[in-house]
Amino acid sequence: MNSKIGPIAVFDSGYGGLTVLEKLREKLPEYDFIYLGDNARTPYGTRSFDVVYEYTLEAVKKLFSMGVHLIVLACNTASAKALRTIQQKDLPNIDNSKRVLGVIRPSAEAVSEYTQTNKVGVLGTVGTVQSFSYPMELTKQSDSIQTYQEACPMWVPLVENGEAHSEGADYFIQKNISQLLSQEKGIDTIILGCTHYPLLIDKINKYMPKKCTVLSQGDIVSDSLVDYLKRHPEMDQKCSKNASVSFYTTENTEKFKQTAGYFLKEDIEVKHIQLSVSSDQ
Ligand code: DGL
Repeated sequence: MNSKIGPIAVFDSGYGGLTVLEKLREKLPEYDFIYLGDNARTPYGTRSFDVVYEYTLEAVKKLFSMGVHLIVLACNTASAKALRTIQQKDLPNIDNSKRVLGVIRPSAEAVSEYTQTNKVGVLGTVGTVQSFSYPMELTKQSDSIQTYQEACPMWVPLVENGEAHSEGADYFIQKNISQLLSQEKGIDTIILGCTHYPLLIDKINKYMPKKCTVLSQGDIVSDSLVDYLKRHPEMDQKCSKNASVSFYTTENTEKFKQTAGYFLKEDIEVKHIQLSVSSDQ
């Protein structure tokens, strides 16, 4: 489909991007959105650069073929490992009038406005932490910012498996927060560098010292997209505006509906989508 106007797509490896979609719908209520979760192949956080790039590019191509002009990679791991190559190498070959945006730069910009001590903590997946994308982006904001990272490999599986509110979640959340803070006592601002983590916010707040400001990406990314659309009226004109949202998953639709229902608190229609042969296995 090569329509002149189309919905804005929000892509994530699983359910985490729903936290970004929710805020986008609040701030841009008249726009149409497509949500695509690659739930069949989640998590991305433990996968190699090549695999995350390959999966993300498949999703980007599929969304473009559905009439989308603008994609937000809500997934930090995909933003860290695939965004730059897709923007620089693939987009010029696919269609240079289309755009793919990520979440790491807007998050780094926002964090730098909050920290007083210039000591910033990042909680993220193994992939995001190992990519060093946050330290690099934060240094671009200011040379004096020091970044301390902690990978939380169990947090995404807790969300994906519906264990976000379980006692088991307490153990891993307390452990990773205390490991991050033990790296540097002066950390005063912490970015939840994974879209799944706001779904654990009650427990994160339970173990986070009051002196630390915790920033989730929903508000940051939605503010940044509002600003982007103002600065790019040519893209804004390509975004359809009927206040609709459609959900797609590479997994079983009933499973998606059930788990997404915990977070969305609304009844949704979900369609299955195939990105590659392996996503149907
Ligand atoms: N939600 C993704 C992120 O923001 C990661 C989840 C995963 O490991 O697939 O990094």
